Amino acid sequence: MEKRRSPVFVLSATVVLFAGTAGACTPALQGAIVESAHYVLAYKAFPEVGKHFSLDVAVCAKPGSPAPATLKVDAHMPEHRHGMNYAPSVTLVAPGRWHAEGLMFHMPGKWEFVFVVNGERMSQAFLLSEVIFAEEEKAKILRHGPWPPTERRDPSNRVSGRREAVELGERLFFEPRLSGTGSVLCATCHVPFRGFQDARPRAFGLEDVDRNTPSLFNVGFYRWYGWDGAHDSLWSQSIRPLLERREMRATPAHVAAVVRKLFPGDYERAFRRPPPADDEEVLVDVGKALAAFQETLVTGRTPFDEFRDALERSDAVSMNRYPMAAQRGLRIFVGKGNCSVCHFGPQFTNGEFADTGIAFFKGKGQVDSGRYEGIKKLKDNPHNLLGRYNDDPARTTATGTRHVDLQQRNFGEFRVPGLRNVALTAPYMHNGSLATLRDVVKHYSELNEERLHLDGERILRKLNLSESEIDDVVGFLESLKSL
Ligand code: HEC
Ligand code: HEC
Repeated sequence: MEKRRSPVFVLSATVVLFAGTAGACTPALQGAIVESAHYVLAYKAFPEVGKHFSLDVAVCAKPGSPAPATLKVDAHMPEHRHGMNYAPSVTLVAPGRWHAEGLMFHMPGKWEFVFVVNGERMSQAFLLSEVIFAEEEKAKILRHGPWPPTERRDPSNRVSGRREAVELGERLFFEPRLSGTGSVLCATCHVPFRGFQDARPRAFGLEDVDRNTPSLFNVGFYRWYGWDGAHDSLWSQSIRPLLERREMRATPAHVAAVVRKLFPGDYERAFRRPPPADDEEVLVDVGKALAAFQETLVTGRTPFDEFRDALERSDAVSMNRYPMAAQRGLRIFVGKGNCSVCHFGPQFTNGEFADTGIAFFKGKGQVDSGRYEGIKKLKDNPHNLLGRYNDDPARTTATGTRHVDLQQRNFGEFRVPGLRNVALTAPYMHNGSLATLRDVVKHYSELNEERLHLDGERILRKLNLSESEIDDVVGFLESLKSL
């Protein structure tokens, strides 16, 4: 895909274009073709910005023309009136064949090769990566890193980051006996090899669930949990599926009994006390161990991160390894697409909520009001950060929960998901209604602005992207996949 759009493609496309007219003689090299009154020249080169490259040339003489004896090679940017800062050396390798060394294009843009054969000038223009980032774009791109981020501990969870708790959490994550029926585990829906989701539009546990299973990649970095933000910590979010009738259908007493019977030693190592008698306390600690494990699900570095760091150190050579389509898509992402306003920072999410015009009917006249219902659930939840299970004595972690205020605009808002490894987690959106990344980008491109109920600033607009721009944004999103 990317190869097609690289400078190499531009050169080889020319081969196809000119091959038919080169009938008079055939140069002894497969490459891009340039023709003059007396000669046909073929050349092969793999230029990259900021990197010395070489060039192979073969020239043949048309009938009645003198044999090619001398060759000069140069290149310049016709629109900027400047050339290379380097004088290439040209050596004859066989009659009519040359090898040139020491060429370099110091910036992307429109370049032109100039060949002089026996005093006759022949030239060919081509595009070397048309993507040049402006200072403002650079600043926005740099904010999507660095990666990996520094580890984060959750002060509301006293076992956050503790190795023994991570180990217990991992065991619990794969333990079906925690469910009321003994048949459903976290990994039923959050499947490790499927990016910790289930590849289904909407989840299915013991019954159908109305929402899409989100991936658990980088889940430790959110401020609010669930598509609707009904939870304010990773540990309280992890309690929800245990008790939810359609998912694991357990009770606090059942979960506590399983821990006391199957994991007493692991529990004691993680929490530095034996399982307590209070079922609710054991249930919450199960949530905290599960959270400690999930905090470790941090994604690796991506082609985007390599590019971003190269941009930071102005390393044009490394930058040019990033596919051209991804570069153009990135420019839309931080530019006219406005994507990075919501998909902000190293995680590609600002952690807040927005209405993106995805229908929120659940069918049969039922509505998923998203954040609107989420705030009500959050306020009513005894496991929220204002409650007694928050381990942070200063309670600074509860500030958001204390001040969150229910507003009409929250109706139909869903949490902005992070986009790292998003190519691995189709289908998309809170209801799984968009099957591919291309469908998501098309959704933004063809957005029905009427459907957004907005107060305040309008961020999303119908983008009217061309087909190739849609490909480019998809190419960029795919480049957020770990190496
Ligand atoms: C039946 C499928 C299913 C099972 C089983 C399940 N989940 Fe989920 N999980 C979901 C769905 C669906 C959501 C989205 C919930 C919502 O927004 O209402 C979710 C959301 C989450 C989130 C929030 C992610 C985010 O980005 O905010 C976490 C964390 C999570 N689950 C952890 C767990 C853990 C831990 C278990 C096991 C105790 C578990 N899940 C079991 C389907 C499941
Ligand atoms: C106003 C904030 C906002 C802007 C701007 C925005 N998004 Fe989103 N994005 C969201 C929200 C909210 C969701 C989840 C919506 C839902 O589930 O109904 C989402 C979902 C997505 C998803 C699906 C992720 C998943 O795991 O399901 C992708 C991909 C995505 N956006 C890419 C983009 C791109 C590309 C742009 C720019 C063209 C963009 N977004 C602009 C807020 C935004």
